[in-house]
Amino acid sequence: MLLSVIQTDPQFGDVSANIQQAVSLMEGKRADLYVLPELFASGYNFMDRSELDQYAEPATGPTFELIARFAAAYSCYVVYGFPERADRIYNSSALVGPSGLVGTYRKVHLFYRETTMFAPGDLGFPVFDLPFGRVGMMICFDWIYPEAARSLTLRGARLILHPSNLVLPHCPDAMVTRCLENRIFTATANRIGREDRGGTDLSFIGRSEIVSPRGEIMTRLGETTAGAGVAKVDLSLADDSLNRYNRLLADRRPEHYKG
Ligand code: ACM
Repeated sequence: MLLSVIQTDPQFGDVSANIQQAVSLMEGKRADLYVLPELFASGYNFMDRSELDQYAEPATGPTFELIARFAAAYSCYVVYGFPERADRIYNSSALVGPSGLVGTYRKVHLFYRETTMFAPGDLGFPVFDLPFGRVGMMICFDWIYPEAARSLTLRGARLILHPSNLVLPHCPDAMVTRCLENRIFTATANRIGREDRGGTDLSFIGRSEIVSPRGEIMTRLGETTAGAGVAKVDLSLADDSLNRYNRLLADRRPEHYKG
């Protein structure tokens, strides 16, 4: 299957233009499964909770409607990040397919000012069975906790879909390790640009990428330009058999691990 990471240059608050930009990039590079960045339609750097409240929408809100129309028209799947209005406001991602909403994930590990505005995710790390194989989601800063990718792997995910708004420089290289230590594929869709709002000036590092279970960087985009990266992936290659003697997951020794 063809997997694509879409790297956008959103402008804070310009929701319809940000969605249009993502849709144009998807239309320019056909794939079976697309990953868009975290909070891709709204922008990232909310000044406070009341501003966030203006942009939050339910999982089946207007952004979902537009993306679901795209997924139905092109018979594909799309994962994207959005501020989810539910009992509280979560930093969420949605997985949408040709027949509608497949599932959502709520960011477990909030980053920096997010901790003052969003509620921490309360759904754990769910997995979903797609025609290509089992997938799971994590969002941006979840990368720094190996437990996130490991939890998804232990639940059988062969591909982690990873909408991001990366600020720290380490994630693109760290994802190579996440793939090696779990023998899975990852698809990190990041944004570029800068948001200087409410006394917090953030620049986003681009470098969206798809990494294989062997740690190969199958595609990686640049730091300053929007675009689409595509790789042909076979999820059956995400297999924990390292060699005839070592099985990565089966050989774990949890009785020696703490926490
Ligand atoms: C981040 O979690 N958006 C850095």
